[in-house]
Amino acid sequence: MTLQITPLSAAFGAEVHGLDPTIPPDTEGCETLRSAFDRYGVLVFPDAAIDRWMQTCVTELVRGEADLSADKIEADAQKQSSFYISNKIEDAAAPFGRLMWHSDGMWSDHPFEVISLYGEAIEPPVPPTQFASTTLAWDTLPADLRARIEHAAAVQVPGPESFAQRRGDDDGDLVQPVRDREYSVTKPIAHRHPRTGRTLLFVSQQMTSHVVDIPPAESEDLLKALFDHMYAPTNIIEHDWREGDLVVWDNPACQHARPDVKLDSSVRTLRKVGWPLPPMGQKQAVGSYRRIPASQ
Ligand SMILES: [Fe+2]
Repeated sequence: MTLQITPLSAAFGAEVHGLDPTIPPDTEGCETLRSAFDRYGVLVFPDAAIDRWMQTCVTELVRGEADLSADKIEADAQKQSSFYISNKIEDAAAPFGRLMWHSDGMWSDHPFEVISLYGEAIEPPVPPTQFASTTLAWDTLPADLRARIEHAAAVQVPGPESFAQRRGDDDGDLVQPVRDREYSVTKPIAHRHPRTGRTLLFVSQQMTSHVVDIPPAESEDLLKALFDHMYAPTNIIEHDWREGDLVVWDNPACQHARPDVKLDSSVRTLRKVGWPLPPMGQKQAVGSYRRIPASQ
């Protein structure tokens, strides 16, 4: 079956139809998916109806992995066999709360390049997953803002505890990952995408602590201007989940976020696969999660 790619918006994102859920795409199909992934950043496969093996295969192939042999994919799938985002499964990641904008692992030297979520058990309506393009944000950055950050660097941390004031007028609880130690990295704000070489805006609402070498108040003002630009409605798409949907995205090129998820609301279980796996493990050393109430 031929794969059909349909753009989701004028900005980025595309829908894919025609994926065979039982066998990997042929050479032509792989090329179609890779080129769509690099062009659109977010690929949505409605009603894909696939298992974790096939999800792992698609997640790896869009990054250009050459070895898609059954045994290799099976071994990689097994390494993430318990990786879920869910408000119902015990020990799942991010079980409750709102997630502010971020790319997974911005604060580490080994962030995922590709992330996929599959709607394994969904009782609609559930909160959507939202996406913002960091590459389009860079391409459309006003000249005065670009001049201020072209040679600047920023400190990235897991957050969002220190940045709870950035929640704006959304009073939902935030979810705070509890890790074995504090992590942080300092990287240029004009960040080069590891595969495509495109420049992307490397700051985020949840994970950027501050811009280095300027006073704290100036840093926060600068970040607010960058966030207002990057998270403008014209640079955002969102996916309303239905059971069987697969969404695969370019983690550096697209940040993600979600509104508040409640433990006692309807089932929202998303099977997650990230690639490549960081040396510290698939959950990046998260021990548990803590709630940051709206009043904080
Ligand atoms: Fe995330």
